[in-house]
Amino acid sequence: MNILIATSEIAPFAKAGGLADVVSSLAIEWAKLGETPIVILPKYGFIDIYKYAFEPTEHTIIVPMGQWFEYARLWQGFLPNSGVPIYLIEHNIYFDRNGIYGDPNEYNDNDRRFIFFSRAIFEVAKILNFKPDIIHAHDYHTAFCMAFLKSYYIHDPLFKECAGVFTIHNLAYQGKFNPENALMYSGFGMKEFYPGSWFEKYGTVNAMKTGIMFADKITTVSPTYSREIRYPYFSEGLQDELNQRGADLIGVLNGVNYDEWNPEIDNEIFEKYSINEFDKKYNNKKQFLFEHGFTNEDDLDLPLISMVTRLTEQKGIDLLATKLEYFLHKYKFRFALLGSGERRYTDFFHYIAWKYPKLAIIDIGYNNNLSHKLFAASDFFLMPSRFEPCGLTQMYSMKYGTIPIARIAGGLADTIMEYNYENSQGSGFLFWQYNADDFSYAIERALQIYNNQPHWNNIRRNAMANNFSSEKSALDYIEVFNWAHEKIK
Ligand code: ADP
Ligand code: GLC
Repeated sequence: MNILIATSEIAPFAKAGGLADVVSSLAIEWAKLGETPIVILPKYGFIDIYKYAFEPTEHTIIVPMGQWFEYARLWQGFLPNSGVPIYLIEHNIYFDRNGIYGDPNEYNDNDRRFIFFSRAIFEVAKILNFKPDIIHAHDYHTAFCMAFLKSYYIHDPLFKECAGVFTIHNLAYQGKFNPENALMYSGFGMKEFYPGSWFEKYGTVNAMKTGIMFADKITTVSPTYSREIRYPYFSEGLQDELNQRGADLIGVLNGVNYDEWNPEIDNEIFEKYSINEFDKKYNNKKQFLFEHGFTNEDDLDLPLISMVTRLTEQKGIDLLATKLEYFLHKYKFRFALLGSGERRYTDFFHYIAWKYPKLAIIDIGYNNNLSHKLFAASDFFLMPSRFEPCGLTQMYSMKYGTIPIARIAGGLADTIMEYNYENSQGSGFLFWQYNADDFSYAIERALQIYNNQPHWNNIRRNAMANNFSSEKSALDYIEVFNWAHEKIK
């Protein structure tokens, strides 16, 4: 199958969150399975073209925008450790910047940047003579691909047997655009803007809605999230559209690329370890603490509870902020955070670092190497998310024998099972209500298992033995792609 992946992120070139990891691991798996994926990405200013050996091609693409054309140069490289071709679209006015979506606030021309990109991918396919069986678009940034496929390109021989699949990674970001501008850039014109049209939502153009309405099949990144979003609490206002497309909405659980996230082969951590080598895991913890200024005089054995996260409301930071000081007084543990995001939260964590220097380790920023070290060093991993479409970090942490304490929402519900002392099954601690009491109780249960043998080793072994390999997820998508094809026959 020829699969054209249109994405605003892919690891390791451009990453803001889990989207980048998922797109990358799917492309690698599809290639291994004998499919033919290509990836198209904007050529952002920060992409290290020398390190990844990107080269300009001889091609310039001509992209229709509204009543005019724009020009872009095409670059080519490969996804590391795979033969998957990556094409970068060079349009410096739009993409030669330090951020993907903003820096730090959203760029105010994201409508124009991403509508351009969503149109450009078709022109890339044409110039390469790549005949896609599937166009796979991700989140609002590439949602307009679905509309372009069905309106402008469906009559082109290259695309007439092509189905469109749209994956929702996060409904919280919808791409709400000024209608005049968005419909001018996309060439559809204001005649397409009326209450209830496939572009319109609450008086704006809503890219997420456009993707949902025009796609042949829609997927979300976990089965639980695909059910949750049919209700207003999780749907961010799009429950009617999602229910209207209900028969075509499928939850496919994200998977993990275990060549990248595996303590047995991870070169980023202090000492590699496998399932029964908890002494080596402990060395990772000690080394991490030493690197953060702790010495043997400090109680190194205190349980280490950590987070690696974007600092946004989604991730339950409000809930944590109301209780963290109370927890630090009441329970015996050390807290470590690696995160970046909203100012109100970074201020809070700076305060915590200042007030509890022996109990809190706070790294504000984005640091891939440190994230690996933290997964290996920690005993517990916290995810009190208000909502979580899938979440990858709970799966990473389990692979490193680090026990998740998480809220039962979205993909967290699909990947973590509460530990049961009767039969020694399960690999985490969960709470249901988004409130401080339930959250406290989950922390308390988690801390009780630390030092409680044989359960402490059982739960860690269970966690490490879980298998959320991206191969399964890649196979599930192939099935969805086949269904999408049946629809357009
Ligand atoms: P989301 O996409 O909502 O942020 P996921 O759990 O799906 O959540 O994916 C987050 C990804 O981003 C993971 O690979 C995680 O390790 C990484 N990540 C998040 N914050 C940071 C950070 N501050 N430094 C390094 N990596 C981070
Ligand atoms: C989004 C979601 C996260 C999911 C990721 C990859 O960023 O917030 O839960 O794991 O996309 O699909």
